Amino acid sequence: MPTPIPSPWDPQQYDRFKVERSKPFDDLVALLRPRPAPHVVDLGCGTGELTATLLERLGAAEVLGLDNAETMLAEARGRAGVRLRFGHADIAAFYEPGAWDIVLSNAALQWVPDHAATLAHWVASLAPGGQLAVQVPANADHPTHLVADELAHEEPFRSAFAHGRPPPDVVAANVLAPERYAALLYNLGIPDPQVRLQVYCHLLDGPEQAVEWVKGTTLNRFKAALPAALYAEFLACYRERLLARLARDAGAVEGRPYLYPFKRILMWGQA
Ligand SMILES: C[S@@+](CC[C@H](N)C(=O)[O-])C[C@H]1O[C@@H](n2cnc3c(N)ncnc32)[C@H](O)[C@@H]1O
Repeated sequence: MPTPIPSPWDPQQYDRFKVERSKPFDDLVALLRPRPAPHVVDLGCGTGELTATLLERLGAAEVLGLDNAETMLAEARGRAGVRLRFGHADIAAFYEPGAWDIVLSNAALQWVPDHAATLAHWVASLAPGGQLAVQVPANADHPTHLVADELAHEEPFRSAFAHGRPPPDVVAANVLAPERYAALLYNLGIPDPQVRLQVYCHLLDGPEQAVEWVKGTTLNRFKAALPAALYAEFLACYRERLLARLARDAGAVEGRPYLYPFKRILMWGQA
C-alpha cells in the first residue's frame, strides 16, 4: 500500500461549489452510450460524491473511484458499499489493459503531464467496445489563473519557492487544444471521437466568490509550496488584485452577481 502523502486538497473548500461543478459531470455522463451492467472506473474521483451516482445512473456492475489525495479519499471511503469501492492510486500510472467498460475522469487529468501517453494508457484499459469519457478545465487564460501566476513571480513570494520557481499552472502546462485531443483519440484507434469546448456560465453571488472557487483548486499549489503566513499574504494580495482586474475588465462589483465564464473540454470515444 502506498504511503499517504500530505495533501493540500480540502474537501470542504472544494465542495463549496458542488452544484456548479456537477453540471460538467452530468454532461460527461450524458455522452456515454447505454451498456448493460458496465464495470466503471472513475479516475481522480475526489470525495466520491459524483462517483457514487454512477452506480445507479449507469446501472453499473461495479464502480471503482481512484485518487491520490488522502483527504479526499477519507470522505470517499465513507460512501463505499456494495459494488462501490475507492482506492489510492496515481492516475498518471493507471494502466489495466482491456479491463474496463467505462474509463471516466472528471476535472482531474489536468494535474497529469503528458496527456498523449496518459490517454494511450487509459484507452488501452478499455475492454472491446469500452468507452472513455474525460472532462478537463481549459480556463488558464482567465484572470483567476493569470493573476495567481503573475503574483507568484513577484516578491516576496517568488524567492520563497524552491529555486525561485513558482509551481506552474497545471491547466496552462498540461491541457491541450480540443482538436489535439480529437487527433490523439483517433490515432489511438477510436474511430469517431467526440470532443467539444464548452463555456460554463457559473453565476456567483459576487466576484469575491471566484476567489473562494480557486482556493479549492488552482491556488492549492501555492498553499502547498508557501509557509502558512506567506500564503495568507499571497491570498490577500491575490484577492485585491483579482477583484480590481474583474472590475476593470468585466465590470464586476463586489456583492453583486458575477458571471464566472469557465471553459472546459469534454471528450468521448468508444474503442
Ligand atoms: C478537481 S478534483 C475533481 C474530483 C472529482 N472528479 C469531481 O469531479 O468532483 C481533482 C481530483 O484529482 C485528484 N488527482 C490529481 N492528480 C492526481 C493523480 N496524479 N492521481 C490521482 N488523483 C489525482 C485530486 O486529488 C482531486 O481529488
